[in-house]
Amino acid sequence: MARIVAGVTTSHVPAIGAAIDLNKKNEPYWVPIFKGFEFSKKWMAENMPDVVIVVYNDHASAFSVELIPTFAIGCAEEFPPADEGWGPRPVPVVKGHPDLACHIAQSCILDEFDLTIANKMEVDHGLTIPLNLLFGEPKEWPVRVIPLAVNVIQYPPPTGKRCFDLGRAIRKAVESWPEDLKVMVFGTGGMSHQLQGPRAGLINKEWDTRFLDNLTKDPIALTKIPHIEYVRETGSEGIEMVMWLVMRGALDDNVREVYRFYHVPCSNTALGHIILENVDKSPRKAAA
Ligand code: DHB
Ligand code: FE
Repeated sequence: MARIVAGVTTSHVPAIGAAIDLNKKNEPYWVPIFKGFEFSKKWMAENMPDVVIVVYNDHASAFSVELIPTFAIGCAEEFPPADEGWGPRPVPVVKGHPDLACHIAQSCILDEFDLTIANKMEVDHGLTIPLNLLFGEPKEWPVRVIPLAVNVIQYPPPTGKRCFDLGRAIRKAVESWPEDLKVMVFGTGGMSHQLQGPRAGLINKEWDTRFLDNLTKDPIALTKIPHIEYVRETGSEGIEMVMWLVMRGALDDNVREVYRFYHVPCSNTALGHIILENVDKSPRKAAA
């Protein structure tokens, strides 16, 4: 059966994509940022999954502001990079896993999580930058990707608890897929960031650190954080962190922190990245 083995979170600051695409990785500003992902790229190469479910938000690229699904799962064969205003990023087309994605959609919807099914969708920096940070700049992405777009653009986004519970439903769906597939879940966006207004550039390292600690220590406490606390403590775009809770919900209760990287500033934001691994690696019975 398929199995979720690990979860990864990372910010998706678009300037990282520009640094890669414009060949600026060796500039002093960017060196420590890319260095922070060297371990992760090596670890990923050694633990390469077959499929990654990338929980991200579309930034009015694929959906526009006319249509904003709360949760949308990409069931297409492939997902081209979106044109975000300067042309599409020069990254490979993202290959999907339509069979598993449709199975997850069916399992979750019958489990009362009413996902929107996206049979055609472009993907923006929210999805492609995390792929670069974990897989580098290959000619083809080395994994199949199932995009899961979450609305954190227009109020109201889903609650952290809803996101965590969706992660649980995704785990059940994956564990009822008969083929032996190694699956990882990426939660993207975050950490502290406020991109506009008088508080632009707000960083709350203490809050971010506690959030990172509690991903392992007390994820249930994280599910109780109300929207207003994310916005007040970490800035308006800090709300992207609810997406990390989909990743956490998809893992077991018992996880091990493999690696962490926190860096300020990255553009106007705090960059946070963590790798969590399920402790129990024994084979499991398929979920009912
Ligand atoms: C910026 C945009 C984002 O979507 C994000 O998550 C972080 C930073 C930016 O424009 O700098
Ligand atoms: Fe974002």
